[in-house]
Amino acid sequence: MSIVFNQDSRLFVLSTKNTEYQMKIDEIGILQHLYYGAPTGGMDMEYQIGRLDRGFSGNPWEYRTQRPKSLDTTPQEFTSSNVGDYRISSIQVRHANGSASCDLRYKCHEIRQGKYTLEGLPYVRGNNGALAADQDAETLVITLVDEPTGLEVQLLYGVFEKKDVITRSTVIVNNGEDAVVVNKLASACVDIPFGRHDLIHFYGKHNMERMTERVPVKHDVICIQSKRGMTSHQHNPFVILCDQDTTQATGAAYGFMLMYSGNHKTEVEKDFTDSTRVVMGINDTDFAWKLEKGASLTAPEVILTYTEQGLNKLSSNYHHIIRENVIDAKYYNVERPVLINNWEATYFDFDKEKILKIADQAKDIGIDMLVLDDGWFGIRNDDNTGLGDWFVNTDKLEGGLKPLADGVRERGLKFGLWFEPEMINEDSDLYRAHPEWALTDPGRKPNFSRNQLVLDMSRTDVQEYLFDRMAEIIRDAQCYYVKWDFNRSLANVYSNNLPADRQGETAHRFVLGTYALLDRLLKEFPDLIIEGCSGGGGRFDAGMMFYTPQIWTSDDTDPICRLQIQAGSSYGYPVSVMGSHVSASPNHQTGRKTSLKTRGIVAMSGTFGYELDLTKITEEDKEIMSQQIRTFRKYYWLIQHGEYYRLTDERDENYFTAWQFVSEDQSEALVNIVASNVHANPEIPCLKLQGLDPDAWYEEETSKVRYTGRALMSAGYVFTEFVGGFMGDDDSFPADQYHFVKI
Ligand code: GLA
Repeated sequence: MSIVFNQDSRLFVLSTKNTEYQMKIDEIGILQHLYYGAPTGGMDMEYQIGRLDRGFSGNPWEYRTQRPKSLDTTPQEFTSSNVGDYRISSIQVRHANGSASCDLRYKCHEIRQGKYTLEGLPYVRGNNGALAADQDAETLVITLVDEPTGLEVQLLYGVFEKKDVITRSTVIVNNGEDAVVVNKLASACVDIPFGRHDLIHFYGKHNMERMTERVPVKHDVICIQSKRGMTSHQHNPFVILCDQDTTQATGAAYGFMLMYSGNHKTEVEKDFTDSTRVVMGINDTDFAWKLEKGASLTAPEVILTYTEQGLNKLSSNYHHIIRENVIDAKYYNVERPVLINNWEATYFDFDKEKILKIADQAKDIGIDMLVLDDGWFGIRNDDNTGLGDWFVNTDKLEGGLKPLADGVRERGLKFGLWFEPEMINEDSDLYRAHPEWALTDPGRKPNFSRNQLVLDMSRTDVQEYLFDRMAEIIRDAQCYYVKWDFNRSLANVYSNNLPADRQGETAHRFVLGTYALLDRLLKEFPDLIIEGCSGGGGRFDAGMMFYTPQIWTSDDTDPICRLQIQAGSSYGYPVSVMGSHVSASPNHQTGRKTSLKTRGIVAMSGTFGYELDLTKITEEDKEIMSQQIRTFRKYYWLIQHGEYYRLTDERDENYFTAWQFVSEDQSEALVNIVASNVHANPEIPCLKLQGLDPDAWYEEETSKVRYTGRALMSAGYVFTEFVGGFMGDDDSFPADQYHFVKI
């Protein structure tokens, strides 16, 4: 039993292998948050909760005379609003009479076997097909009620005992008589009463996503958010709160990850009592959801984890839950194809012959799949026209897609295709027929980005059109794979299909519409692999991963930039989801020259593929590529399912970046090191490896030198052969892999 309720003390204890989470209903029905951390050995943690009246922090009505407690200083599970807690609130509503007060008190609860699911939203799967290990996940639903109005809030908890993961979500139900407007509904609120913390978050921009920033939490509110209608390149919906001395290998850390692909917000506040509150959910900016009598609204899920073993362990908890419980189990044991994508090879300038020439080369090299990127449909010779017209451009592709796809298959390759479903160009037949399908304000000139507008995904007729067009093409070309792109942020978020008092719902309904389309297509084509993409990694989140087992990590394919991007992404997400390709040198985004070896080693820590003109490479490079593919296949499961460790930290001023994979049974490890900077006379790196069996001997495959696991972990491996100095042109950023095998 991982969820226990003690009737006498009214204490809830949620237990996982290495963590414990406690809540308690107090005398007046406030659901207090007592504790989240390491197991307590059966302690009721209420002793930690102070009961001081601190002045100017009011008391609930029942406490008005003795003044024993204030909501302003009480750690809570889901905070109310306008009732004397002046910190971040979890909810904001406007009742029919204009009141914005909401005083949530315990009503009832239910504990049940298995993990709850969410209608229309992605969620962590309790029973993930073949991966049945977590069928023993448990669910707790606590119902809170605002007595005067009958408004109910259900707090959902999923406890994954073996994975040290607790999920949370919230459902608001209007059991009152009148409609109510919900202006904010957080997915989770966690109060951490003590400690000095750092916040680690992942900011960025196009071509430089998920940069790591670590800042001390001060007496302020830090807000990590997206108002772009999408996850965004700028801020990922994932943060870590850790002790200030926590390192990759040691120390306490909490993780908060939102499974959502739209506007999100994470607020972190250290209050006047030194308690830290984290509130995470849909961004409340411009959000207003009208809840009619009897209606309900569900907030997206948050994935929480805690560890005392450092940031690598925290990442490992996320890697496991995403690989095994977020991504559909059907992809788990299927080796993903090594692909060649024509984007950086041809951009819009291709025809059938050109693509088949690339396919010829790809086949010789040992590549599994060819992906035809942007430009195959409508009139699309640049990025100004055609989006929405999902009809094959037969000027470019004579006879349509089928002959090309068949030609690719005849060469022994699978066929994949690019779409950007949610977008529309003004210059398209679709826009000329249905201007009302675009998100635009009445009487206002819309904002453009990449010269495109956004389709109103909240409309079922739009979803229907996209489903029909995509299904016909996927069926006709027998696509094995689809790259699902999304190349702008939203603006003019106005649906021509919703009344004025429901416009505040458009942004969320947009996301629900995208999820519905993804869901429907995957039901129609159960074997299809969809790779998410958004100008690279602008929609890189656990919500998309529920549908798309891989996501293009960044449009920046420079391997040295990728070191930071992939390391930042690895804090929350496994390498098995990270789309990563070898591209040309000099790199198209940065102009930097790197060797094929370096590009290969970096791209191998991901889904692996190529994105360059294979008709223009030398025989020597073709041979190197073939060898890279053989190496990738050799290490495939070690990389995709092994434990991942960052051996260097962005905060260290190393000239190199290193990371490591260890197989589950600790029988082998793969260490990767890449120079990330050029020094004339650099030091020789020595790094402590992680996750090995301390009592075993390991042999490094190339040098045949043997080491004890203990020596490699306590004293470190010395990379004598590896020196990232200036070697001229291609070799200034060397890279190496070291394979250690237990003997
Ligand atoms: C986005 C993607 C690229 C490519 C182009 C095509 O930028 O991230 O990989 O597909 O669109 O227009």
